[in-house]
Amino acid sequence: MIERYSAKIAGTGRYLPDKVMTNQDLEKIVDTSDEWIKTRTGMSERRVASEEQASSDMALEAALQAIDHAGLRPKDIDLIIVGTISPDHAFPSTACIVQNKLGIKHVPAFDISAGCPGWIYASNIAKQYVENGIAKNVLTIGVELLTKILNYEDRGTCVLFGDGAGATVISRAESSDISRIIDSDITADGTYWDLLIQPAGGSRMPASHETVDAKKHTVYMDGNRIFKLAVRSMYDSCDKVLKRNNMDISSIDWLLTHQANLRIIDALGRKLKIDPNKVIINIEKYANTSSATIPIALDEAIRNGKIRRGDIVLMSSFGAGLTSGSILIRY
Ligand code: ACO
Repeated sequence: MIERYSAKIAGTGRYLPDKVMTNQDLEKIVDTSDEWIKTRTGMSERRVASEEQASSDMALEAALQAIDHAGLRPKDIDLIIVGTISPDHAFPSTACIVQNKLGIKHVPAFDISAGCPGWIYASNIAKQYVENGIAKNVLTIGVELLTKILNYEDRGTCVLFGDGAGATVISRAESSDISRIIDSDITADGTYWDLLIQPAGGSRMPASHETVDAKKHTVYMDGNRIFKLAVRSMYDSCDKVLKRNNMDISSIDWLLTHQANLRIIDALGRKLKIDPNKVIINIEKYANTSSATIPIALDEAIRNGKIRRGDIVLMSSFGAGLTSGSILIRY
């Protein structure tokens, strides 16, 4: 019989590229305004990777920090899962490239394509591996380099996204540890698969001169429809996790949701009836870094002392698929 263990977040790390693109910078590229972007989304600026950088380069920096923060070395990692929709290549997985950069061999490594909840999906899987005893220290990464696949003629999408990486090490918890991943929920509704999509480059629409000319290799989004589904899907996921752990919103010290739009974060907070002071927000600095928003904000909040040991943190996300999911932890 397989023994059951508990899992915890043992270390966190983040990487943001140095280059800052402000709303004023975007005003020079596309027909938009600082005022529109701020009032409609809450975003002021975002980070942009350099020409030379790829997702695995950013993932590596975040991973090294998380491994160090956990008091481990790369050789202690026994599984690598990368959540991304902007991998270095269609294949092989970015996880294998990160594995090579970390100098680790003979451990499984794979990517998860789950849109913005990519890190939540990866960490949900990591939790199972740790709990069933198959892995002791799993590296989960959310990384996105979306600025290279944005259409800077489409003001409805190009202002919304930024680049970055967040990483966590999910380890076996000792019985003396107060830290735990209490629960996690993931789900998807493929009815909405075409609301957020990079149409070309796969088997449905292989790359051709026409697809490049028509900018079909960039992000397409039905923002209005996603907006409505976002609040509902994150609320349902949070509610499910709270209910099955006999907890209510007053037990939560911090709510950390996907940073896609300040109005979505506020609406979810109101629906959950959480004190707005308990909601972690950094969207103004980094915009939407897709699968990286939650692990970046988690690392930032831990390192600046906002999230303290023993705090209960509820994290939730939604994204392309349409996917959604939550993770409830005691840090
Ligand atoms: N600057 C100025 N005007 C703009 C811009 C812009 N950047 N973008 C759109 N507009 C205009 C529109 O053309 C429209 O003009 P019109 O009324 O003359 O037609 C007007 O602003 C209103 O447009 P809406 O789309 O209705 O604006 P809305 O308030 O819905 O905001 C937004 C749009 C920000 C995209 C919002 O719908 C949203 O955040 N949706 C959710 C998107 C999301 O979460 N995506 C991430 C999913 S996660 C993942 O997997 C990556």
